[in-house]
Amino acid sequence: MPNTPNRQILVTSALPYANGPLHLGHMVEYIQSDIWVRWQLLMGNQCIHICGSDAHGTPIMLQAEKLGITPENLVSQIHAEHKADFAAFHVAFNNFYTTHSPENQELSAKVYQRLKARGDITTKEVTQAYDPVKNMFLPDRYVKGECPKCGAKDQYGDSCEVCGATYSPTELKNPISVVSGAKPEERSSEHYFFKLENYTELLQQWTQQEHFQPQIANKLQEWFEAGLRQWDISRDGPYFGFPIPETTNKYFYVWMDAPIGYMASFKNWCEKQPNVKFDDFWAKNSPHDLYHFIGKDIVYFHALFWPAMLAGSDFRTPTAIFAHGFLTINGQKMSKSRGTFITARSYLDHLHPEYLRYYFAAKLGDGIDDIDLNLNDFTQRVNSDLVGKFVNIASRCAGFISKHFDGKLANTLDDNTLFQRFSEAGESIQEAFLARHYHRAIREIMGLADLANQYVDSQKPWELAKNQETLAKVQPVCTMGLNCFRLLSLYLKPVLPQLVANVESFFNIAPLTWDDRKTPLLAHTINPYQPLIQRIDPKQIDQMLEKGKVSMSSTEPTQPADLAATDSKASNLDPIAAEITYDDFAKIDLRIAKIAHAEHVEGAEKLLKLTLDIGTENRQVFAGIKSAYQPEDLIGKLTVMVANLAPRQMRFGLSQGMVLAAGPGGKDLWILEPHTGAQPGMRVK
Ligand code: 2FM
Ligand code: ZN
Repeated sequence: MPNTPNRQILVTSALPYANGPLHLGHMVEYIQSDIWVRWQLLMGNQCIHICGSDAHGTPIMLQAEKLGITPENLVSQIHAEHKADFAAFHVAFNNFYTTHSPENQELSAKVYQRLKARGDITTKEVTQAYDPVKNMFLPDRYVKGECPKCGAKDQYGDSCEVCGATYSPTELKNPISVVSGAKPEERSSEHYFFKLENYTELLQQWTQQEHFQPQIANKLQEWFEAGLRQWDISRDGPYFGFPIPETTNKYFYVWMDAPIGYMASFKNWCEKQPNVKFDDFWAKNSPHDLYHFIGKDIVYFHALFWPAMLAGSDFRTPTAIFAHGFLTINGQKMSKSRGTFITARSYLDHLHPEYLRYYFAAKLGDGIDDIDLNLNDFTQRVNSDLVGKFVNIASRCAGFISKHFDGKLANTLDDNTLFQRFSEAGESIQEAFLARHYHRAIREIMGLADLANQYVDSQKPWELAKNQETLAKVQPVCTMGLNCFRLLSLYLKPVLPQLVANVESFFNIAPLTWDDRKTPLLAHTINPYQPLIQRIDPKQIDQMLEKGKVSMSSTEPTQPADLAATDSKASNLDPIAAEITYDDFAKIDLRIAKIAHAEHVEGAEKLLKLTLDIGTENRQVFAGIKSAYQPEDLIGKLTVMVANLAPRQMRFGLSQGMVLAAGPGGKDLWILEPHTGAQPGMRVK
C-alpha cells in the first residue's frame, strides 16, 4: 500500500468480550494493530485507533447472574481491567469504549431501521431448545447430551467432539441445559433475519477488489459457492442487549451490535474532538480509509455481514480487513495445566511488556498463519536481539562520550557511508511495516544492528581510549555508533514506544520524527547512559508458568477453558467432565478438615498457608485463596480437602493436599464448608 502523505485513517481492533481477562492470544492482535497505527503516525498520517468492550450476549448475562451482580456492573469491572492491561502494554487506543452505550443503541437502531426500510429484514419461526426452569432459550452451546450419530456422552448442542458430527441441539439424546440441569423443551418463537443473500453480488465484487488477504478471499469464495444464507439477528429475552425497536422481548444478537460498536466508539470520541466529524469517516462517500484488524475466526462476521449491513444502511464500507492467526505457546494451544494459559496481567507481573511487543513483531507477517510463542526462543531472542545487539551499541559507546568528552558528540561522523546505509534502509523498513511484514522489517533492523556492532568491533574505542594519541578518535567513532543506535531506535519506535522514549531522554532530544533519519546528531550533549532494558532471566518465565499452575490447581477449579467464551463458542460454566467410574472417584480421598490455623505467606500474592486438622494429623496446604479470604476469617472453620494428592514442593514450602473451592477467582471464590455435625477426618464419599 503506497504511503501517500496526509492520509486520514480509522483503524479498529476487535472488541474483546467483557467477561474474562485478556490473555496473550488477545495481545497478538492489539500489539499488531498498535504497531501499525504508530507507524502511520510516524509517517505523518492522521490515524485514529478505536476499540471497546463487547458487552452483550448470553455468557455475560449468565456470568453476572452467577456473580450476583448486574451485567452492567460486570462489564464495567472487566472494562477497567482490560483498559489497564492495554495501557500497560502501551496499546494506545484513541477511545476504548463499550457496546453498551447510548451511541451504539442509537446507531444499531438506525442500521436496523434502514435495512428494514429496504426490505432486508424478514421474520421466521425458529424452534430452539428452551430451559423451562430458567425460562430462557438456550444457545446451542448451553445444551449438552449424547451425540445423535455416535452416542458419545457429554457433547455440546452443535457438534460432537468425538465423531465430528454437526447437528442441532434438538437432535441430542438425553439433553440437559447447562444453565440449570433441566431437560430442555423444544419451543418456537419468531426471529428477525437479515437477508444477506441480497448482497451476494456486491460482496462478490468486493472480494475481487483486494479488500481481503488472498487466504480470506479464497475462503469467501467457498462461502459464495455454498450460497449466502439469511442471518438470524434476534434473540428472545431474557438477554443482555438492545431491544429491537417496535418489538416485544426481542433483542439484537450480540454480533449485530458489536461491529456497530466500532462506529459508536468513534462517535463517542468525535464528540470530544473539535476537528473530527463522524460523517467524514462513515458517510457513504468518505474519502478516508477504514481498516479492521481481526482474528481469523471472525472473518465471516467482518467480511460478509458487516460490509453488507453497512452498504444496506448507507454507510461506507471498510477499505480492507486485516486478519491474523492464533497464538500457540511452546507449539501447543494455551493450557492451564501446563501453566501456559497466560493472562496479560500475569505476564506483566513477571515480564516487561516490550519484550512481548518485540517478539510478536519479529514473528508477525501479513497472513493468517498462527504464530508460536516458544518461551525458550522468546528468552533467547529478546536477550540476543534487544539486549545483546540493539541496546549494546549504546552501552558500548555512551560511556566514552560522557567520560572523555563531557557528554558531547563529535562535529563530524566517522563513516558517512555507513550512516547513509542506515538512513536509506528506512524506506524498505517502513514499507515492510506498513504492509504488515513486521518480521521482515525486524530482520532488516537486526541486520543493521549487526553492522553497527561490527563497526564498533572494528574501531575498538576501548583500545583507542587507552592512549592519549588516539583518544581524540574515540569521539567520532562513538558518535558514529550512537548515530546508528539513534536510527535503529527510530525504526523500532512503534514497536518499543517506552524504551525509545527513554532513548530520547538519553539523547536529550525531542521525540524522534521520520525526517530525523536524514541527518545525524552531531555536536550535541547527551545525558549519562542508564541501562535501558534488562535481560530476561529464565527464572522469570519459570515463575510465571509455576504461578499459572498454582492458580489453576488452587483457585480456578471452575474457570471455563475458553475465557473469551461467546454465544456460539462456549458456556461460562465448565463443561461437565468426561464420565468416570465409581472406582475412579473412590481413588480421591476427600476429608473434612478443620482450619486450625491460617496465615499470609511472605512474598506470595495469591496464597494463604493453612494448617488443616484431619483428625489423625495436621496438614500444611498452600491455597490460592488470598484474594477472597482474610486468614482470621478462616480459623476454626471446617472445609473439605483432597487428602491423598501427591505433596507438592512449592517455592514457599511443601503443600500436602488441596482445599476445594468454586468460583471464577479474585474476590469471587468460595471454599466448601460442610453442614454442622461433620467432624475433622471424616471421609467425604
Ligand atoms: O470474537 C470476539 O472476541 C468478539 N468480541 C469480537 C467482536 S469484534 C466487533 F465486531 F465488535
Ligand atoms: Zn459423535
